[in-house]
Amino acid sequence: MSHHPIKVVAVTGGKGGVGKTNVSVNLSVALAELRRRVVLMDADLGLANVDVLLGLKVTHTVADVLDGTHSLRDILLNGPGGIKVVPATSGVQQLAQLSTPEHAALVHAFSDIADQLDVLVVDTAAGISDMVVSFVRASQEVVIVVCDEPSSITDAYALMKLLNKEHNVYRFRVIANMTRSAQEGRLLFEKLNGVCERFLDASLQYLGHVPFDENVRKAVQQRKALIEMAPRSKASLAIRALAEKVDAWPVQSGPRGHLEFFIERLLEANTTSGAY
Ligand SMILES: Nc1ncnc2c1ncn2[C@@H]1O[C@H](COP(=O)(O)OP(=O)(O)O)[C@@H](O)[C@H]1O
Ligand SMILES: [Mg+2]
Repeated sequence: MSHHPIKVVAVTGGKGGVGKTNVSVNLSVALAELRRRVVLMDADLGLANVDVLLGLKVTHTVADVLDGTHSLRDILLNGPGGIKVVPATSGVQQLAQLSTPEHAALVHAFSDIADQLDVLVVDTAAGISDMVVSFVRASQEVVIVVCDEPSSITDAYALMKLLNKEHNVYRFRVIANMTRSAQEGRLLFEKLNGVCERFLDASLQYLGHVPFDENVRKAVQQRKALIEMAPRSKASLAIRALAEKVDAWPVQSGPRGHLEFFIERLLEANTTSGAY
């Protein structure tokens, strides 16, 4: 096992289109600006995933790691600002059903890169599928992205409820995205926190807001990271402020702080019991 603790941050939110991928990408680049070595893992097989958003060409995937022909290092893509990207693949879909050699290959593959990273950011898919749950409960930090729409709030709540009641996740960090003002973000957080305080045994912490900014859409169109395309834009400045906070979170001590813990936990069968 490596002795270098790593921060593993899952970015999730329940609903699609709330800005999870944009937050994941730009938070990763902003952390890299703070001189952290960042790997962004794309755990979404949907359409607007990380490689598409950044115009990266995927040559090999996790499937090539599982069959032993490539190391994780071989399949990492070079993203903006020096971040590395683990591209999404259909291989990721069946993580809980890997054969013993595949399981070992993946654990080994991650151990192999553990010395070269400080932060692993995981961009998850929309919804509350087993895959989303697997990635989130394996991470040390869970960032919930919400925007001020009833469906975003109810979906975020449903996801936190499931994670809290069935998977022992007790701490959530909240980002209000596409806000019109700092106050709107704060109120959105208070709304969500109010429901969680009443019905869940979890603590919510407000990480901050990212304002609505036309530059985000432009960056997506140009397949560039917002932070690189418009470094002084409102949204870039906000995301940098969030990155400073993320950077200040302590890394977990003990086995939980190691990348092997994340990967072993990720590969555990996802045993959801009750209804939600
Ligand atoms: N802060 C923002 N300001 C303006 N538009 C945004 C912002 N964040 C996200 N968007 C828009 O929302 C779309 C969906 O964002 P995306 O990150 O792909 O969401 P998700 O990953 O949650 O599905 C983006 O293509 C972009 O146009
Ligand atoms: Mg996305």
